[in-house]
Amino acid sequence: MGRCPDCGEWGSVIEQLPPVGEGRPASLPRIPKPLADVDPAGAPVRATAVGELDRVLGGGLVAGSVTLLAGEPGIGKSTLLLQALAELARGGARTLLVSAEESVEQVRRRADRLGVPPPGLLIVAETSLPIVLAMAETLAPDVVAIDSIQTVHDPDGPGAPGSVTQVRDGAQRLVRYAKESGVATVLVGHVTKDGAIAGPRVLEHIVDTVLSFEGDRDHGVRTLRALKHRFGPTDELGVFEMSNDGLHGVPDASSLLLTERRGDASGSIVAAAIDGARPLLVEVQALVTRTNAPLPRRAAQALDGGRLSLLIAVLQERAGVGLGGFDVYANVAGGVRVAEPGLDLAIAMAVAGAHSDRRLPADTVVVGEVGLGGELRQVPQIARRLAEAARLGFRRAVVPPSTPEVPGIRLHRVADVGRALLLLEVPDDGLGARSGQE
Ligand code: TYD
Ligand code: MG
Repeated sequence: MGRCPDCGEWGSVIEQLPPVGEGRPASLPRIPKPLADVDPAGAPVRATAVGELDRVLGGGLVAGSVTLLAGEPGIGKSTLLLQALAELARGGARTLLVSAEESVEQVRRRADRLGVPPPGLLIVAETSLPIVLAMAETLAPDVVAIDSIQTVHDPDGPGAPGSVTQVRDGAQRLVRYAKESGVATVLVGHVTKDGAIAGPRVLEHIVDTVLSFEGDRDHGVRTLRALKHRFGPTDELGVFEMSNDGLHGVPDASSLLLTERRGDASGSIVAAAIDGARPLLVEVQALVTRTNAPLPRRAAQALDGGRLSLLIAVLQERAGVGLGGFDVYANVAGGVRVAEPGLDLAIAMAVAGAHSDRRLPADTVVVGEVGLGGELRQVPQIARRLAEAARLGFRRAVVPPSTPEVPGIRLHRVADVGRALLLLEVPDDGLGARSGQE
């Protein structure tokens, strides 16, 4: 076939013949046995001692499993990997880091920022996959990490290094190695801004676990999520802060995300969000400014842009907030991406508050999904969200009608967006009018 039926590219299809011998059992055939007789502790879990990583992994790395650590370049994948390997080595595990992108000296310089590397951590700069596999078989470590899967390749295989064929075949061979040897294997994978490209996408179904490392490069906060996990839940959120000496776990993420908050600004609303299983208080900010452009801008950062447009439409049609001649900007402060419907009411109130220069008292949180009719809908785990807000000193909450009482918080139960907006107040200084607008 000369042309790829998928992407339309010419000359990109490579013929591959199945290797001789494939399909026959390689060594001892495995004999089926009753599931009830299988020892569940047969595949031991190794804690990395990087707390937020273990939280997302549900305990640690499983023997014989393959974990993909995916993220944009520069987000901190190599740093997280090095910290985890160092902790594993400190705990007595034999660890091998295959650095296919950086020289061993570069990695050593990074390690020096993180503290003295333990002697049990082996490193090699190697890009040839057959050599990597041979080395791993000889050294028989407990954990192998490849940084990155896009840069290791088989020089004799088809396709250029980093091509879909090479990346997929490389990962498949590493998976086979991990299963046969029982070695916990970690692969680093780069994702580009627009997602796809010769990377994690093609690997998702091959590996056991896909971890996504995210964050805004201009901010220190990084989040780790499991997009796929064969050994545990996928709803844990890990939060780190990048500092001069590496990544530090942030057990109390809500207070970190609210530290720079100016409670008295209009257009700033604290939302009681939840990410997977973790309650997270975030500041939603909006800016509304008059424009003469025929198509006003709607720009969203760290939140869903489509949702923002929808909420603006609901504000216009259901609550009489005219935003036609205005640009609207909205973001989640701190650069942590939160996309969940529980943020709806906070976004709507932040936009309406920015528009009319009104605000909520600083000790108020907001939570609720907004329907197309402007009605407020209940969200999952409302009690946990409000308990987190109470823990951080919030005393009032704007919530959907069916919300049960939570100790320490006064509830404003509202039926729709229009009623919620009535709770926005003119600032104390009495200068409610928007200066320079008219
Ligand atoms: P890196 O782990 O190399 O990212 P990736 O492997 O995902 O491409 O780290 C990226 C950035 O982190 C780099 O710009 C430097 C910064 N950094 C710190 O701020 N503090 C540190 O202690 C380290 C090691 C890196
Ligand atoms: Mg790197």
